[in-house]
Amino acid sequence: MTKTKLAIVYYSMTGTNFQLASWAKEAAEEAGAEVRMVKVQELASEDSVKANPAWLAQKEREKDVQEATSDDLVWADAIIFSSPTRFGNVTAQIKNFMDGQGGIWSQGQLVNKVVSAMSSAQNPHGGQEQTIQAIYTTMMHWGAIIVAPGYTDDSIYLAGGNPYGTSVTAGRDGMVEDVEAAVKHQAKRTVEIAGLIKAGQ
Ligand SMILES: Cc1cc2nc3c(=O)[nH]c(=O)nc-3n(C[C@H](O)[C@H](O)[C@H](O)COP(=O)(O)O)c2cc1C
Repeated sequence: MTKTKLAIVYYSMTGTNFQLASWAKEAAEEAGAEVRMVKVQELASEDSVKANPAWLAQKEREKDVQEATSDDLVWADAIIFSSPTRFGNVTAQIKNFMDGQGGIWSQGQLVNKVVSAMSSAQNPHGGQEQTIQAIYTTMMHWGAIIVAPGYTDDSIYLAGGNPYGTSVTAGRDGMVEDVEAAVKHQAKRTVEIAGLIKAGQ
């Protein structure tokens, strides 16, 4: 059987979701998956980015990452989304990418994709769970198969106990909770479930 294909689709302004996506990639590759880690298109003006040193630094960090396309989703057996929280919801950049998938959605090309999601917010209760649920709402419209972590591993408790998907508080000095193990567990679990579904087809 061919390798399970995983697309990790993220947006990151200051590096948090980039780091979550990078950990997920590392773990999925360890689990034997073929991985495309891709960023969604930026919508903000160049001037806005340049005015913010942290934002500009993230652009530099991810300059070699490919931009996500519909083909990445069609190609993938599984998809992990990672989005910062914006007023209790996903970023416009992630939403814009999702809204651009009407074509492949209408052709049924998103049906039975195995999906999972991660998020961050500045405050411990700033909307991380809501952001993940917003992603899952769209996934239901796609006919995707949502694989939430639940409480399937001790790492989830250490990361703050979000059963919907790994999330983190992005504080002034970086990530507050230690979520690396939870991200890696979530990525491996997503690949594992996608592999089981692929094998059964
Ligand atoms: C316009 C805007 C809205 C935001 N809304 C929220 C929010 O609702 N709750 C919160 O805790 N943090 C909020 N934040 C903070 C971001 O969620 C935080 O900077 C982000 O999770 C960091 O992820 P990144 O480093 O990958 O960009 C907001 C930030 C911006 C710029």
